[in-house]
Amino acid sequence: MPEFVLEARGLRKSYPRPDGSELVVLQGVDLVLKRGDTCSIIGPSGSGKSTLLALCAGLDQPTSGSVRIAGADLAPLDEDGRAAVRGRHVGFVFQNFQLLPTLTALENVLVPAELRGEADPELGRSLLRRVGLEGRMDHYPAQLSGGEQQRVALARAFVNRPAILFADEPTGNLDAETAARITDLVFGLNAEAGTALVLVTHDPELASRTGLRLRLRGGVPVSE
Ligand SMILES: Nc1ncnc2c1ncn2[C@@H]1O[C@H](COP(=O)(O)OP(=O)(O)O)[C@@H](O)[C@H]1O
Ligand SMILES: [Mg+2]
Repeated sequence: MPEFVLEARGLRKSYPRPDGSELVVLQGVDLVLKRGDTCSIIGPSGSGKSTLLALCAGLDQPTSGSVRIAGADLAPLDEDGRAAVRGRHVGFVFQNFQLLPTLTALENVLVPAELRGEADPELGRSLLRRVGLEGRMDHYPAQLSGGEQQRVALARAFVNRPAILFADEPTGNLDAETAARITDLVFGLNAEAGTALVLVTHDPELASRTGLRLRLRGGVPVSE
């Protein structure tokens, strides 16, 4: 593994407005992380947090600037190439879980591994045990609470043993007790596996636990 698991430099993102002018939502953001580093992205609604996360995770492309994930420069890659880098090195957790409703918890966890042709049901089961869902492996998302669905999403994010986990408000929809449990799990997996974390959050408790904090205001990093 190269020195940096994430090397994002000079990221800028803009959209054309209907009148032809440019709406700049991110203007010159750097984010560089080594193995095991943890970073929270904080700031008011609309400040560009989700945009930055999507660019760093290779889900969206910057207007200018560069992103390397585990040494791989995303710029020359097409969508299939970016998907391959994501599948190999990246895990995601979204605020609204995004589980597939027609698959069981175990099947959901195994989806990213199946996309790589390396699905190992025993690894999926061990991850579900790790997040406390040993009794729920064959349940469908609709049969699970929000906190349980988020734990399935977390197990799924780790199934390819990613170098870096991106999570967009992973505790945003959960009660305080469940949020604390998810937070402990994320940092536990960081400590055990050295997975770097990038967490968008409004939760001061979660933000206080990361080694780095990146505060955005109007698409610009500001000092705390
Ligand atoms: N596809 C898009 N087209 C135009 N504007 C967008 C698009 N996506 C996001 N934006 C704008 O970019 C800004 C930052 O959005 P976002 O990154 O979602 O903020 P945050 O996650 O901090 O709430 C917002 O003003 C939003 O309206
Ligand atoms: Mg957001």
